Amino acid sequence: MRIQVMDDYEQLSYWAARVVLSQVTLQSNSVLGLATGSTPEGMYQRLVDMYQQGKVDFSDVTTFALDEYLGLSPDHPQSYQYYLYNKFFNHINLPPENINLPPGDTTDPEMACQNYEQAIASAGGIDLQVVGIGVNGHIGFNEPATSLNTNTHIVDLAEETIQTNSRFFDNIDEVPRQAITMGMGSIMGAKRIVMLANGKNKAAAVRDSFSGKVTTEVPASFLQLHREFILLLDKEAASML
Ligand code: PGA
Repeated sequence: MRIQVMDDYEQLSYWAARVVLSQVTLQSNSVLGLATGSTPEGMYQRLVDMYQQGKVDFSDVTTFALDEYLGLSPDHPQSYQYYLYNKFFNHINLPPENINLPPGDTTDPEMACQNYEQAIASAGGIDLQVVGIGVNGHIGFNEPATSLNTNTHIVDLAEETIQTNSRFFDNIDEVPRQAITMGMGSIMGAKRIVMLANGKNKAAAVRDSFSGKVTTEVPASFLQLHREFILLLDKEAASML
């Protein structure tokens, strides 16, 4: 585990983008696992800037989104599909056929999970997985529990996650209660993982994940076991380490 503490969000976003840039530069056909949420917004903006400056070429890259709400159509402004197109895919030269997202509007979520896991395997696994962290220590939508799922699966969102994510919706009742998420095995199977966390509200989750024991009650703590794991923090998120 390599921990880097940045001065602020700008610097964090820049270095996160540099990690992705170097991955794609070294291996043009990289398979990227992509997180959504507030944290990586700056990273995507930087990557778009780098693309526009001719510094990176995504024409041979394949992407897999980490998770998606169940029950939102892809064009819903809070769907992760909408987020990724809006903030990233629409602005770069990633071929549409190389984009993979769990279908939030599927009528057969069980089958969709199996197909998604299969698609990751068929792509040769994920080369670089970008993740954020929830205030409760979740990664993707793998919520604290007495046991964790290995593969892509349907999950009931934790009350804390529903509360936290309600800031994106008009009211809390509109927050979907379920999601499809890559499982812990899908994430841990990535060759490299980079986690981004910023702000005071992430400090306790960062401390519990990386200064404590590995436990299913703090899913992000499993990343301690990964050989190629980079933790990028701003000063506030690192303040309780
Ligand atoms: P955030 O979400 O980036 O919006 O804080 C992170 C997460 O819940 O994994």
